Amino acid sequence: MSINSSAPARGLFIVFEGGDGAGKSTQVQRTSQWLQSAGATVLTTREPGGTQISEELRSLVLDHGHGEIDARTEALMYAAARAAHVQQVIIPALDAGTHVICDRFVDSSLAYQGVGRGLGVDAVAAINSFATGGLHPDATILLDISAQDGRSRRIANTGGIEESDRLESEPDDFHERIRMAFKELAAENPQRYLVLDATEDIEQLQSQIVTHLTGLL
Ligand code: TYD
Repeated sequence: MSINSSAPARGLFIVFEGGDGAGKSTQVQRTSQWLQSAGATVLTTREPGGTQISEELRSLVLDHGHGEIDARTEALMYAAARAAHVQQVIIPALDAGTHVICDRFVDSSLAYQGVGRGLGVDAVAAINSFATGGLHPDATILLDISAQDGRSRRIANTGGIEESDRLESEPDDFHERIRMAFKELAAENPQRYLVLDATEDIEQLQSQIVTHLTGLL
């Protein structure tokens, strides 16, 4: 058997999850900067998105004005966007030794479509297993936030105006169910989850993330 010693070590697949307004994008950027300053190659990306077709699906599923989208169609649109993203972007990057930091992944579908929309976690997990070919994150960082705090932060970030996409427009009890769903997913997968209180300050959060990821590198 010959081993190709020139093949790079596979990159880490790091995912940030949490309710709307949890501050994921700030921590994604900080984590990327930290890894790059340590000499690593990093790709930051988001779901739905990351390829042309996935960004177009993002607009279709999130923007108002495309008429009614039933729950199954919504789940399949997220899964289709994810399939393209995994095949075209995430797997090639990981194979090339690049660490991939992704803002949301399958667990968002399990929480929002499986629990929030009531499709059931198992059904949504099944279509996502097909979409991803079974790719799982090496680490998932959950920024836990209440529905009310998430909404206040979103409003603060948009200069006091409530600009909500189709999912953000759902009432607080929908977002509370999403929050509980993420906590349950974390409890079921303790080996890959780090759960943080999103109301802690940015530096405190980042240092806990750095400690957790250092253990995996
Ligand atoms: P996000 O990019 O976090 O929103 P923004 O950065 O604009 O605040 O996520 C977009 C929305 O899509 C968010 O409300 C969660 C929802 N979503 C799902 O319902 N299922 C999914 O699988 C994903 C990835 C996102």
